[in-house]
Amino acid sequence: MDFIDERALDEITAQATQLVAEYFRTIADRPVRAENHAGKTTAALDLDLPIEGVALERLMDECRSVFDLSRHNGHPRFFGYVASPSTPIGAYADLVASALNANITCWRSGPAGTELEQLVVRWLGSLIEYDANAKGLLTSGGSMANMIALLVASRRKLGADASRKGLWQSGPPLIVYASEEAHMSIAKAADILGLGRDQVHVIACDNRQRMRVDSLRQQIEKDLRDGLRPCCVVASAGTVNTGVVDPLSEIARVAGEFDLWFHVDGAYGAPGVLDQRKKHLFNGLSLADSVSLDPHKWLYVPVDAGCLLFRDPNPVKATFSTDEADYIKVHGHSDDEAFAYWDYGIELSRRFRALKVWLTLSYYGVRRIAGAVSNDISLAAYMGELVTADDDFELLAPVELSICCFRYVRAGKNTDLDKLNEQIMSRVQTSGRAYLSNATVNGHFALRACITNFRTTKSDIELTLETIRDAAREINTDA
Ligand SMILES: Cc1ncc(COP(=O)(O)O)c(C=O)c1O
Repeated sequence: MDFIDERALDEITAQATQLVAEYFRTIADRPVRAENHAGKTTAALDLDLPIEGVALERLMDECRSVFDLSRHNGHPRFFGYVASPSTPIGAYADLVASALNANITCWRSGPAGTELEQLVVRWLGSLIEYDANAKGLLTSGGSMANMIALLVASRRKLGADASRKGLWQSGPPLIVYASEEAHMSIAKAADILGLGRDQVHVIACDNRQRMRVDSLRQQIEKDLRDGLRPCCVVASAGTVNTGVVDPLSEIARVAGEFDLWFHVDGAYGAPGVLDQRKKHLFNGLSLADSVSLDPHKWLYVPVDAGCLLFRDPNPVKATFSTDEADYIKVHGHSDDEAFAYWDYGIELSRRFRALKVWLTLSYYGVRRIAGAVSNDISLAAYMGELVTADDDFELLAPVELSICCFRYVRAGKNTDLDKLNEQIMSRVQTSGRAYLSNATVNGHFALRACITNFRTTKSDIELTLETIRDAAREINTDA
């Protein structure tokens, strides 16, 4: 049965590309988030599994209503979480990759895709000044990249064979060090890997939310005295809450001294290195044994495209390579042609993610992308200045990269500011005018704006603060 006839191909191409173009043209004019409630999207659809095919026109209309009921991460006033806009070239790259439908398990399975992935990984490595021996792989995102890094770190400490023979839990517990500001995916990875969350020792931060290196050292020394096995230290290059970069060079020194794997979670913040004004913050990044850097965050590539870079591929290969499955053995190929991603990560079937990274970096060029990253950083600083200058607000953390954390403070004497700001955030989110998320900073509920958006301008920042003031006024009137 043939699913493709010429007329259908032309119609689908015309209508789907029109839908995409329409979306890119209208994104800034839409509410950031549609008025919505759980079940509204499916309520408008036929919920029975279609036995017969549905007309294309109807399906395209339903896609339009899916767009209408979505939250638009590419809107110029979307500042929640870490979510950047997609680009037309990135969106079409996903289309091209799906048309080819290559499965990038290894060179034999996807020769072009494998070579492109090796190329873009080298490009991403060069951004953080890794040398040509560095390798890596694209992942579903930062969480997967962080988990692979922790697995490699643990296996290195135990010896690859030890863990294969079921000795994973034998001997003293392995310890991972991460600051109290580290992303939740670190504790989750430890949990999944069987290390347990208790084996992540949380290191205190200084008053700028950066890992305290003296506390790190003290904790490692204590753990050694207690007979534990320090294994890995995870630093952040751009924390998810406030966007600060840990003191990487100093942490690298401690990691070297105690023979720890040094992983840097730069899933969000590593592209900040492209801004010359911020480059100094990343000194020591190239000393890391592994670095997470997500193209789908601050390089404006559509989800999903994470990346784990590693300085030396050998411990990674020692962790993952297997000769247990006969059907994947590669026979009669040179080393390059025997290359397999299953030797470097968890997934076997893998999307052709490299295409959208390659097309995005090639079409815009690093200079333009760096300009957009710098502009995001300037806009976050601008927001910080406005907040500082205005008695309505209090800045809660220094603005280091592109995240601004603050709160609304013009309120009656006995007002619970945490509760008020939580209510403000909810109002702003449902208003459709702007979208902020939250963070806890020094025990306070903070409104958090993360700017990773090439559409945002200064007036969007001003409008967002105005939206917050309006929300606060409405809450006071309601009370
Ligand atoms: C610093 C940091 N690390 C890891 C992650 C997890 O990335 P992902 O959502 O791609 O799994 C995030 C997500 O925002 C992050 O900000």
